[in-house]
Amino acid sequence: MAVLGAGSWGTCFAKILADAGAPVRLLARRAEVVRAVNESHENPDYLPGLRLPDTVTATLDPEEALDGADLVALSVPSQTLRENLAGWRPLLTPDMTLISLMKGIELGTTKRMSEVIREVGGVPADQVAVVTGPNLAPEIAQEQLTAAVVACTDEERARRVQQAVTTRYFRPYTNPDVIGCELGGAVKNVIGLAYGMAAGMGMGDNTKATLITRGLAETQRLGVKLGADPLTFAGLAGLGDLVATCNAGRNRTFGEQLGRGRSMAEAQAITRQTVEGVKSCRSIRDLARANDVEMPITEQVERVCHEGVPVREAVAVLMARQTKPE
Ligand code: 13P
Repeated sequence: MAVLGAGSWGTCFAKILADAGAPVRLLARRAEVVRAVNESHENPDYLPGLRLPDTVTATLDPEEALDGADLVALSVPSQTLRENLAGWRPLLTPDMTLISLMKGIELGTTKRMSEVIREVGGVPADQVAVVTGPNLAPEIAQEQLTAAVVACTDEERARRVQQAVTTRYFRPYTNPDVIGCELGGAVKNVIGLAYGMAAGMGMGDNTKATLITRGLAETQRLGVKLGADPLTFAGLAGLGDLVATCNAGRNRTFGEQLGRGRSMAEAQAITRQTVEGVKSCRSIRDLARANDVEMPITEQVERVCHEGVPVREAVAVLMARQTKPE
């Protein structure tokens, strides 16, 4: 097994695979991460306090990471996937299952991560699986009980991945709806930003519940237009991931800083890691516009993050919007 990308989720996923019984090679970009994993079994910059199983080893060399791997999990920032995967493509073989752990939409192309993997990796759709759901890495690192979803158009392959990542604390379900699962994962980051902004402004539970439900409504509207199963959005990859991210994710933390009046740069300095929704709010807005789907919360998050619009003004625009029947 190989995990390409040693951020918090990639590192945590390597632990899950290893705890499920297989040795794992973790590809990192920085030598100090490789040293920390191999010598002290930890990745302190991303998951302080986590002791990785001895069967997780790290390397800087993609060839070494991929040699003989049958499951290959990709866990790099969404906007760098294309460039990274182009470099790894010569090392991919037809017997590998490529697993996307990423939750974003590519800027410029508005493609989902599995679409980028198929295009750049030169692999068919049924060779790609997506693992998603309410999966906050710091909690899974502590072996908090967690459910997840393995989405793949090839149901037999989905079951094989499910088996390979089942542990006593990690319980994956399967779902053939790759489009819905990926959209749920990408859009919840944007709604998590909006939720954080509301929390940072001191708004209460009515506002927060409204953001979760109306955020899910606009996610489902886009998903259905693109061919997703509407029921996916009521499940772990939809509502489940949205609730977890709004409560405790990096996107929520970032949004909260903006809601308290901090700048984008200040919010980034506090959050430190990649905050996927900041970039994907624009690509999701573009995808929605291209498909004639209204996504008012996403539109306003994009204006705050990229057009210098004050949070209070974005809220006023949302509240002044004409309602339509639910
Ligand atoms: P954040 O990136 O906002 O931390 O969300 C993590 C996540 O995807 C939880 O499922």
